Amino acid sequence: MSRTNIIAGNWKMYKTIAEAIGFAYEFVSGFEDGGREIVICAPFPQLAPLKRALSGSNVKLGAQNMHFEEAGAFTGEISPAMLAEIGVDYCVVGHSERRQYFAETDGTVNLKLKAALRHGIIPIVCVGEVLAERDGGRAFDVVKRQIEGGFAGVSPDDAARLVVAYEPVWAIGTGRTATPEQAEEMCAFIRKTVGEFCGADAADRIRVQYGGSVKPSNATELLSKEDIDGALVGGASLSPKDFKAIIGF
Ligand code: PGA
Repeated sequence: MSRTNIIAGNWKMYKTIAEAIGFAYEFVSGFEDGGREIVICAPFPQLAPLKRALSGSNVKLGAQNMHFEEAGAFTGEISPAMLAEIGVDYCVVGHSERRQYFAETDGTVNLKLKAALRHGIIPIVCVGEVLAERDGGRAFDVVKRQIEGGFAGVSPDDAARLVVAYEPVWAIGTGRTATPEQAEEMCAFIRKTVGEFCGADAADRIRVQYGGSVKPSNATELLSKEDIDGALVGGASLSPKDFKAIIGF
């Protein structure tokens, strides 16, 4: 099965609207996707202006979070329908920073993932172990539990449409990347685990990204691995030059 590579930039809480638009114009000039799907996951206020700035290119738009309810008294939250109205294609769900600072659990990940799918938004579901779990030999158990909890009740067809980002927490923003072998080993394990829960077809079709200190100097080797179908890029996606270099053009 040939899966289309997907490289997503996760801007986190960086860039004003003016900076986002400036990035978009620089980024799309001479843009070629090289057969890869490219996504920019921006903060909420930047999404609608970016949608306009990116129109005419095939760069896709992603949000970084959303609520799982359709509407309601949830002060400060954003619903999936609001994102769908803007034309958001993807939404990061369960990023480790959301799990760590905003009490996200595998249960909320599961609800958000299903809500996104109901609105035609493809979730990029983040999983990954912290350093103590890796050092304690528990990384695979932790990731398996995150997949099991996150994917509960998801149909094989829906699972096949998802993107999973394997992001070892110890590699995020630290400059310490997992080796290509470590990343490949876990991405292959994620595919196998999806197969156990959702069947062989979903395992074959689901795209699994690696994330954590991906930069121009290590992207090519990581992306050459068989079970790594792309990257979720934080810091290096803030610069059009570095992000283009990772995409490979
Ligand atoms: P990083 O972040 O590339 O800056 O390590 C990755 C992420 O958090 O998605």
